Amino acid sequence: MLPLFLTAYLLCLRSLTATTTLLPRMTFTEKETAMKRLPLPGHHAPIEIVVEGEPDTVIAAGPKHLNSLNFQNPQKTPVEIHVLWTECIDPGPPPTLRADCNYNITLVHKREEANQLFLCGTNGKETLCCDMNLSEQSPGCLPLEKMEKIKGSIRKFVIKEGEPFALLDSPESDLYITYSGSQDNVGIHKFGKNRVTPARHNKEQHYVGLVLSRQREPLKSRVYAFYREKNRDRGLYSEMWIPFVARVCTGDRGGPKNILQYSWTSQMNARLFCGDTDSRQHFSELVDVATVQADQWQDTRVYALFRNEWGRSAVCVYTIRDIDHIFTTSPFKGKDVQSNRPRECVEDSTKIQPDVLRMIETYSEMEQWVRPEKNSGPLLSNHHSYTHIHVHGSRSNHNVLFLSLNNGGIHKVMQNKSQTFIIAEYQPFNHRTHVVSIGLHPSSGKLYVSSRNELVQLNVANCAQYGDSCELCVLARDPYCGWNGTHCTPETDGTLQDLTHGNHAICLTVSKVQLHEKVFRGSTATHADEAKGSVTLPPESKHFLRCPVSSHHAQYSWRHLGSNTSCSSREQQCLLLIDSMGPEHVGAYTCVSEEMGHRRVLAQHQLQLEGRAAGRSSSPLIWLCLMAVVIKSLS
Ligand SMILES: *[C@@H]1O[C@H](CO)[C@@H](O)[C@H](O)[C@H]1NC(C)=O
Ligand SMILES: *[C@@H]1O[C@H](CO)[C@@H](O)[C@H](O)[C@H]1NC(C)=O
Ligand SMILES: *[C@@H]1O[C@H](CO)[C@@H](O)[C@H](O)[C@H]1NC(C)=O
Ligand SMILES: *[C@@H]1O[C@H](CO)[C@@H](O)[C@H](O)[C@H]1NC(C)=O
Ligand SMILES: *[C@@H]1O[C@H](CO)[C@@H](O)[C@H](O)[C@H]1NC(C)=O
Repeated sequence: MLPLFLTAYLLCLRSLTATTTLLPRMTFTEKETAMKRLPLPGHHAPIEIVVEGEPDTVIAAGPKHLNSLNFQNPQKTPVEIHVLWTECIDPGPPPTLRADCNYNITLVHKREEANQLFLCGTNGKETLCCDMNLSEQSPGCLPLEKMEKIKGSIRKFVIKEGEPFALLDSPESDLYITYSGSQDNVGIHKFGKNRVTPARHNKEQHYVGLVLSRQREPLKSRVYAFYREKNRDRGLYSEMWIPFVARVCTGDRGGPKNILQYSWTSQMNARLFCGDTDSRQHFSELVDVATVQADQWQDTRVYALFRNEWGRSAVCVYTIRDIDHIFTTSPFKGKDVQSNRPRECVEDSTKIQPDVLRMIETYSEMEQWVRPEKNSGPLLSNHHSYTHIHVHGSRSNHNVLFLSLNNGGIHKVMQNKSQTFIIAEYQPFNHRTHVVSIGLHPSSGKLYVSSRNELVQLNVANCAQYGDSCELCVLARDPYCGWNGTHCTPETDGTLQDLTHGNHAICLTVSKVQLHEKVFRGSTATHADEAKGSVTLPPESKHFLRCPVSSHHAQYSWRHLGSNTSCSSREQQCLLLIDSMGPEHVGAYTCVSEEMGHRRVLAQHQLQLEGRAAGRSSSPLIWLCLMAVVIKSLS
């Protein structure tokens, strides 16, 4: 009976272990890591959070004005910056906004030059745009020549909040912005010298990202749009959404007078595939995308976040090269022979032959689907419900993904080629909330997370939290951290780290002095923050022994004489319950954690029975083992 029970128990443990690596290894709340939290003025979710060049300064935009928040000086009230739309100004003095000018900010773009913003506002009927220099004392809208054409052509358009956009900054700038929903003008819109609109269709589409791919010849640059489309097939087994990527050429001006005038002639659409053919799981609800630019534009990678109806999330990675390959080689859906149809961007789209334009008008979807890089499965797939993705490209050859959870948490994930490792879960908010945006200021290593009414700044290189030994620093596999000989530090040059495997054996290769320290530490097998103590308990009393859990990937167990009681590492503490103190419980208790072969003693306690000299108990070993199992099953 006992061996059978033990076997079942061990099997159960093993299955627990198998899934624990899908959990974040550590959890960081305000208690463990420095977080600064500021209330957002205005009781309205910010349209955009712009991280400024100056460290610790952030612009929260919307709906009516900009607020400059300073994290170095959190007590200071935010500086409110009014947007004086040129078209709305009563000359004054002092210049003021006309009362009937009721524009909500719907687009904010930070230019490459420091403190320069381009923003647009909508009053439900029309749109105004403004170039601002925030370094000025009282910033107004500047008459920037290269933006005039955009301002003129966008006036009669209504920008929807939260739509992706891209600004092609050249001698004459163009603005690309999408319109989502099921109305008439759903699709990609271009504003500037040439206004181009989407062709008419009656599909419901929701856009999540625009990627601009600049080429040496300006007219041959492309814009890629990522969206999900409502499935018209309402069959029992059909998906609600279908993910797509569309491509348009920036040089496109639309067709000639009679056909596709001011509409895209270069638009092609292809389905995206994200799934795992082995486990027959696939993902169709495209939620968000993040781009990692490469030196070679074809190597630009798009990280696409998906969900499915079983509450699982997945991230698939596509390269622009693979997307372009489909657009240049795949047959068109419905009509495969279209030999004279241009696949590349053309010099002058108004000169395309009418028969070709009619073909373009009717068939725009590719037969073949775009598959993830190297035809692989999802980079990551788990039961969490993620809402946003942000990717920090190439930290020592490893990308870092930040994924927001639907409860307000953030997962920090290390990517090594096709493998991922959830380093930590940050809990920036005190309560369940919806994350509105996440953004990283790479040079300072600060992550900004906003909810409807709060903005939190947290340090992504909080290396000291992993512990004060080389092994703990390496086990963390954090691309922002390394072991410098004495500390786990944000320095990654010349420090010890093994992101690929988290193999702490590399700690043994450090210099002799440190090696000596290591051996010394190993032989005593103790740890600085271990709890030690001797407790004397009355007979038949109850008692708890506590042991802190830090890594959820480690195995924790309480050892006492020959017995060994394991804990679930999902909990915050590893507790051992002494149900009724008796002679068999007398003696030393040690809480040990083990992760990838690295063993640590976290707590040691000595229990004594009142009215009895300690340490005389010597019950048979088998009895102790049985007790351990019973205790475990009770706890
Ligand atoms: C502007 O924003 C306010 C506050 O969110 C909202 O109540 C109002 O309807 C918006 N106006 C327009 C024209 O979108
Ligand atoms: C912005 O304003 C500052 C201060 O007036 C000025 O020094 C700077 O040149 C301006 N920048 C641009 C791009 O106009
Ligand atoms: C990723 O891990 C594999 C082994 O798991 C390793 O061979 C490879 O070099 C790693 N990739 C990077 C970019 O470090
Ligand atoms: C290691 O890092 C710590 C904290 O970041 C720093 O105080 C210490 O001087 C560094 N040691 C070496 C040898 O660089
Ligand atoms: C105690 O249990 C843990 C987890 O099941 C196991 O890894 C370890 O080897 C055991 N130790 C002893 C001394 O039995």
